[in-house]
Amino acid sequence: MTETHAEVGIIGGSGLYELAELENAETVEVETPFGSPSDALVVGRLSGRSVAFVPRHGRGHRLTPTEIPVRANIWALKALGVRQVISISAVGSLREEYRPGSLVVPDQIVDWTKSGRPKSFFEDGIVVHTSVADPYCGRLREELMAAAHSATDTTIHDSGTYICIEGPQFSTRAESELYRFLKMDIIGMTAVPEAKLAREAELCYSALALVTDYDCWRSDEQAVEADLVTAVMARNADAAKRTIVRLVEKLPADAACECQDALAHAIITDRAAVPP
Ligand code: ADE
Repeated sequence: MTETHAEVGIIGGSGLYELAELENAETVEVETPFGSPSDALVVGRLSGRSVAFVPRHGRGHRLTPTEIPVRANIWALKALGVRQVISISAVGSLREEYRPGSLVVPDQIVDWTKSGRPKSFFEDGIVVHTSVADPYCGRLREELMAAAHSATDTTIHDSGTYICIEGPQFSTRAESELYRFLKMDIIGMTAVPEAKLAREAELCYSALALVTDYDCWRSDEQAVEADLVTAVMARNADAAKRTIVRLVEKLPADAACECQDALAHAIITDRAAVPP
Protein backbone atom coordinates (compact mmCIF):
# COMPACT_ATOMS: atom_id res chain seq x y z
CA MET A 1 0.00 0.00 0.00
CA THR A 2 1.43 3.37 -1.04
CA GLU A 3 1.62 6.35 1.32
CA THR A 4 0.59 8.74 -1.44
CA HIS A 5 -2.97 9.97 -1.24
CA ALA A 6 -5.31 11.36 -3.89
CA GLU A 7 -8.93 12.52 -3.78
CA VAL A 8 -9.80 12.65 -7.45
CA GLY A 9 -8.84 10.24 -10.23
CA ILE A 10 -8.53 11.09 -13.93
CA ILE A 11 -8.34 8.33 -16.52
CA GLY A 12 -6.95 9.70 -19.78
CA GLY A 13 -7.83 8.20 -23.15
CA SER A 14 -6.44 8.29 -26.69
CA GLY A 15 -4.45 11.50 -27.15
CA LEU A 16 -4.42 12.31 -23.42
CA TYR A 17 -1.45 10.55 -21.89
CA GLU A 18 -0.27 13.30 -19.50
CA LEU A 19 -1.84 16.02 -17.39
CA ALA A 20 0.84 18.71 -17.37
CA GLU A 21 -1.41 20.88 -15.17
CA LEU A 22 -0.56 18.68 -12.14
CA GLU A 23 1.81 20.56 -9.80
CA ASN A 24 4.48 18.84 -7.69
CA ALA A 25 3.74 15.71 -9.69
CA GLU A 26 5.18 12.44 -8.49
CA THR A 27 5.14 9.09 -10.27
CA VAL A 28 3.60 6.30 -8.23
CA GLU A 29 3.86 2.60 -9.03
CA VAL A 30 0.90 0.75 -7.51
CA GLU A 31 0.67 -3.05 -7.53
CA THR A 32 -2.78 -4.58 -7.19
CA PRO A 33 -4.21 -8.10 -6.81
CA PHE A 34 -5.08 -7.74 -10.51
CA GLY A 35 -1.55 -6.88 -11.63
CA SER A 36 -0.09 -3.53 -12.67
CA PRO A 37 -2.20 -0.62 -13.95
CA SER A 38 -1.85 0.53 -17.56
CA ASP A 39 1.16 2.63 -16.52
CA ALA A 40 2.62 4.35 -13.47
CA LEU A 41 0.13 6.79 -11.95
CA VAL A 42 1.04 10.46 -11.62
CA VAL A 43 -0.17 12.18 -8.48
CA GLY A 44 -0.03 15.94 -8.08
CA ARG A 45 -1.92 19.07 -7.00
CA LEU A 46 -4.60 20.68 -9.10
CA SER A 47 -6.61 23.65 -7.84
CA GLY A 48 -5.37 22.81 -4.35
CA ARG A 49 -6.61 19.20 -4.51
CA SER A 50 -4.71 15.99 -4.76
CA VAL A 51 -5.34 14.32 -8.14
CA ALA A 52 -4.14 10.98 -9.58
CA PHE A 53 -3.82 10.50 -13.33
CA VAL A 54 -3.62 7.19 -15.21
CA PRO A 55 -3.32 6.92 -19.02
CA ARG A 56 -5.73 4.12 -19.96
CA HIS A 57 -3.74 2.86 -22.95
CA GLY A 58 -0.34 3.43 -21.31
CA ARG A 59 2.12 6.13 -22.36
CA GLY A 60 2.88 5.72 -26.04
CA HIS A 61 -0.51 4.02 -26.48
CA ARG A 62 0.63 0.40 -26.07
CA LEU A 63 -2.58 -1.32 -24.92
CA THR A 64 -5.56 -2.23 -27.09
CA PRO A 65 -8.99 -1.65 -25.53
CA THR A 66 -9.20 -5.40 -24.81
CA GLU A 67 -5.77 -5.44 -23.13
CA ILE A 68 -6.37 -2.56 -20.70
CA PRO A 69 -6.01 -3.86 -17.12
CA VAL A 70 -9.17 -2.08 -16.02
CA ARG A 71 -9.46 -3.84 -12.68
CA ALA A 72 -5.90 -2.81 -11.80
CA ASN A 73 -6.53 0.81 -12.87
CA ILE A 74 -9.65 1.14 -10.73
CA TRP A 75 -8.09 -0.72 -7.81
CA ALA A 76 -4.98 1.49 -7.93
CA LEU A 77 -7.06 4.68 -7.83
CA LYS A 78 -9.10 3.36 -4.92
CA ALA A 79 -5.91 2.29 -3.10
CA LEU A 80 -4.69 5.90 -3.29
CA GLY A 81 -7.90 7.04 -1.57
CA VAL A 82 -9.68 8.32 -4.68
CA ARG A 83 -13.47 8.58 -4.34
CA GLN A 84 -14.37 10.44 -7.52
CA VAL A 85 -13.18 9.46 -11.00
CA ILE A 86 -13.44 11.31 -14.30
CA SER A 87 -12.90 9.24 -17.42
CA ILE A 88 -11.84 11.00 -20.61
CA SER A 89 -12.13 9.30 -23.98
CA ALA A 90 -12.43 9.80 -27.73
CA VAL A 91 -15.71 8.65 -29.28
CA GLY A 92 -17.33 8.47 -32.68
CA SER A 93 -20.69 10.09 -33.35
CA LEU A 94 -23.77 8.20 -34.51
CA ARG A 95 -25.94 11.35 -34.75
CA GLU A 96 -25.69 14.35 -37.03
CA GLU A 97 -25.96 16.78 -34.09
CA TYR A 98 -23.09 15.25 -32.08
CA ARG A 99 -20.52 16.99 -34.26
CA PRO A 100 -16.78 16.23 -34.18
CA GLY A 101 -15.19 18.69 -31.76
CA SER A 102 -18.13 18.64 -29.36
CA LEU A 103 -18.11 17.19 -25.84
CA VAL A 104 -20.57 14.66 -24.43
CA VAL A 105 -21.34 13.79 -20.82
CA PRO A 106 -22.94 10.39 -21.45
CA ASP A 107 -25.71 9.09 -19.21
CA GLN A 108 -26.12 5.53 -20.51
CA ILE A 109 -24.04 2.64 -21.83
CA VAL A 110 -24.78 -0.36 -24.03
CA ASP A 111 -22.22 -3.13 -23.69
CA TRP A 112 -21.45 -4.57 -27.14
CA THR A 113 -18.08 -6.05 -26.18
CA LYS A 114 -17.43 -9.64 -27.18
CA SER A 115 -14.16 -10.85 -25.69
CA GLY A 116 -15.27 -11.54 -22.16
CA ARG A 117 -13.18 -8.70 -20.71
CA PRO A 118 -13.05 -9.28 -16.92
CA LYS A 119 -16.05 -7.29 -15.72
CA SER A 120 -16.12 -7.89 -11.98
CA PHE A 121 -13.79 -7.78 -9.00
CA PHE A 122 -15.79 -10.59 -7.45
CA GLU A 123 -15.23 -14.23 -8.35
CA ASP A 124 -14.08 -17.49 -6.76
CA GLY A 125 -17.01 -18.04 -4.43
CA ILE A 126 -18.21 -14.49 -3.90
CA VAL A 127 -21.09 -13.45 -6.15
CA VAL A 128 -22.08 -9.80 -6.28
CA HIS A 129 -24.82 -8.40 -8.51
CA THR A 130 -24.30 -4.65 -8.49
CA SER A 131 -26.90 -2.25 -9.90
CA VAL A 132 -25.59 -0.30 -12.88
CA ALA A 133 -29.03 0.90 -14.01
CA ASP A 134 -27.54 4.38 -14.07
CA PRO A 135 -23.91 3.59 -14.79
CA TYR A 136 -22.63 7.13 -14.25
CA CYS A 137 -22.81 9.08 -10.97
CA GLY A 138 -25.68 11.58 -11.35
CA ARG A 139 -24.13 14.08 -8.94
CA LEU A 140 -20.70 14.01 -10.60
CA ARG A 141 -22.31 14.29 -14.06
CA GLU A 142 -24.01 17.52 -12.95
CA GLU A 143 -20.73 18.92 -11.63
CA LEU A 144 -18.93 17.89 -14.82
CA MET A 145 -21.53 19.50 -17.10
CA ALA A 146 -21.42 22.73 -15.09
CA ALA A 147 -17.62 22.77 -15.31
CA ALA A 148 -17.64 22.08 -19.06
CA HIS A 149 -20.19 24.85 -19.70
CA SER A 150 -18.20 27.38 -17.69
CA ALA A 151 -14.70 26.39 -18.87
CA THR A 152 -15.22 26.15 -22.64
CA ASP A 153 -17.41 27.53 -25.39
CA THR A 154 -17.39 24.17 -27.15
CA THR A 155 -20.78 22.51 -27.72
CA ILE A 156 -21.60 20.21 -24.80
CA HIS A 157 -24.21 17.46 -25.03
CA ASP A 158 -25.66 16.84 -21.58
CA SER A 159 -26.65 13.24 -22.30
CA GLY A 160 -25.97 10.41 -24.70
CA THR A 161 -25.95 6.64 -24.92
CA TYR A 162 -22.46 5.24 -25.42
CA ILE A 163 -22.24 1.90 -27.22
CA CYS A 164 -19.02 0.13 -26.31
CA ILE A 165 -17.66 -2.17 -29.02
CA GLU A 166 -14.78 -4.59 -28.65
CA GLY A 167 -12.47 -3.15 -31.30
CA PRO A 168 -9.67 -2.79 -32.07
CA GLN A 169 -11.12 -2.42 -35.57
CA PHE A 170 -13.67 0.33 -36.13
CA SER A 171 -17.18 -0.76 -37.20
CA THR A 172 -18.42 -1.86 -40.58
CA ARG A 173 -20.94 0.44 -42.27
CA ALA A 174 -23.67 -2.15 -41.59
CA GLU A 175 -22.78 -2.18 -37.88
CA SER A 176 -22.70 1.60 -37.76
CA GLU A 177 -26.19 1.72 -39.33
CA LEU A 178 -27.39 -0.92 -36.86
CA TYR A 179 -26.21 1.14 -33.87
CA ARG A 180 -27.99 4.18 -35.30
CA PHE A 181 -31.14 2.11 -35.72
CA LEU A 182 -30.77 1.08 -32.05
CA LYS A 183 -30.72 4.80 -31.16
CA MET A 184 -27.16 4.85 -29.87
CA ASP A 185 -25.56 8.31 -29.82
CA ILE A 186 -21.82 7.77 -29.49
CA ILE A 187 -19.46 4.85 -29.98
CA GLY A 188 -16.22 3.89 -28.30
CA MET A 189 -14.23 0.93 -27.06
CA THR A 190 -13.53 1.57 -23.38
CA ALA A 191 -16.59 2.51 -21.28
CA VAL A 192 -17.02 -1.17 -20.40
CA PRO A 193 -15.96 -2.52 -17.98
CA GLU A 194 -14.52 0.73 -16.58
CA ALA A 195 -17.87 2.21 -15.51
CA LYS A 196 -19.10 -1.09 -14.06
CA LEU A 197 -15.92 -1.71 -12.09
CA ALA A 198 -15.96 1.85 -10.73
CA ARG A 199 -19.46 1.15 -9.40
CA GLU A 200 -18.31 -2.13 -7.84
CA ALA A 201 -15.48 -0.20 -6.23
CA GLU A 202 -18.11 2.24 -4.86
CA LEU A 203 -16.50 5.18 -6.62
CA CYS A 204 -18.35 8.13 -8.09
CA TYR A 205 -17.59 7.90 -11.82
CA SER A 206 -18.48 10.16 -14.70
CA ALA A 207 -17.17 10.53 -18.25
CA LEU A 208 -16.22 13.31 -20.62
CA ALA A 209 -16.33 12.03 -24.20
CA LEU A 210 -14.70 14.01 -27.01
CA VAL A 211 -16.36 13.44 -30.37
CA THR A 212 -13.65 12.92 -32.97
CA ASP A 213 -15.50 11.56 -36.02
CA TYR A 214 -18.76 10.43 -37.61
CA ASP A 215 -17.75 6.75 -37.55
CA CYS A 216 -18.59 5.42 -41.05
CA TRP A 217 -22.36 5.84 -41.46
CA ARG A 218 -22.23 9.07 -43.49
CA SER A 219 -21.91 8.61 -47.21
CA ASP A 220 -20.59 12.17 -47.63
CA GLU A 221 -17.67 11.78 -45.17
CA GLN A 222 -14.57 9.69 -45.07
CA ALA A 223 -14.87 6.68 -42.72
CA VAL A 224 -13.08 7.07 -39.39
CA GLU A 225 -9.37 6.29 -39.20
CA ALA A 226 -7.00 6.33 -36.24
CA ASP A 227 -5.12 9.38 -37.60
CA LEU A 228 -8.35 11.35 -37.65
CA VAL A 229 -9.13 10.44 -34.03
CA THR A 230 -5.65 11.54 -32.92
CA ALA A 231 -5.76 14.80 -34.90
CA VAL A 232 -9.20 15.84 -33.59
CA MET A 233 -8.23 14.85 -30.04
CA ALA A 234 -5.09 16.97 -30.30
CA ARG A 235 -7.25 19.98 -31.25
CA ASN A 236 -9.77 19.43 -28.44
CA ALA A 237 -7.72 18.07 -25.55
CA ASP A 238 -7.41 21.63 -24.20
CA ALA A 239 -11.17 21.95 -23.75
CA ALA A 240 -11.15 18.67 -21.81
CA LYS A 241 -8.25 19.80 -19.65
CA ARG A 242 -9.85 23.19 -18.92
CA THR A 243 -13.02 21.35 -17.91
CA ILE A 244 -11.09 19.08 -15.55
CA VAL A 245 -9.29 22.02 -13.91
CA ARG A 246 -12.62 23.84 -13.38
CA LEU A 247 -14.31 20.69 -12.10
CA VAL A 248 -11.61 19.90 -9.56
CA GLU A 249 -11.72 23.53 -8.37
CA LYS A 250 -15.45 23.24 -7.68
CA LEU A 251 -15.81 19.64 -6.48
CA PRO A 252 -17.09 19.45 -2.91
CA ALA A 253 -14.52 17.97 -0.53
CA ASP A 254 -17.15 15.86 1.14
CA ALA A 255 -18.80 14.17 -1.80
CA ALA A 256 -21.20 11.93 0.12
CA CYS A 257 -23.08 10.00 -2.54
CA GLU A 258 -25.03 6.77 -2.95
CA CYS A 259 -22.32 5.42 -5.32
CA GLN A 260 -20.18 5.03 -2.22
CA ASP A 261 -22.71 2.54 -0.84
CA ALA A 262 -23.26 0.60 -4.07
CA LEU A 263 -22.60 -2.84 -2.61
CA ALA A 264 -25.01 -2.46 0.33
CA HIS A 265 -27.66 -4.59 -1.40
CA ALA A 266 -25.52 -6.37 -3.97
CA ILE A 267 -23.90 -9.37 -2.29
CA ILE A 268 -25.91 -12.54 -2.91
CA THR A 269 -23.49 -15.17 -1.57
CA ASP A 270 -24.46 -16.48 1.85
CA ARG A 271 -21.82 -14.82 4.00
CA ALA A 272 -21.83 -17.79 6.34
CA ALA A 273 -20.58 -19.89 3.38
CA VAL A 274 -17.58 -17.61 2.77
CA PRO A 275 -14.45 -18.75 4.64
CA PRO A 276 -13.17 -16.03 7.00
N1 ADE B 1 -13.16 6.19 -30.82
C1 ADE B 1 -13.17 7.31 -31.54
N2 ADE B 1 -13.95 7.19 -32.64
C2 ADE B 1 -14.44 5.92 -32.61
C3 ADE B 1 -15.30 5.19 -33.44
N3 ADE B 1 -15.82 5.71 -34.55
N4 ADE B 1 -15.60 3.90 -33.11
C4 ADE B 1 -15.06 3.36 -31.97
N5 ADE B 1 -14.24 4.01 -31.15
C5 ADE B 1 -13.94 5.28 -31.45
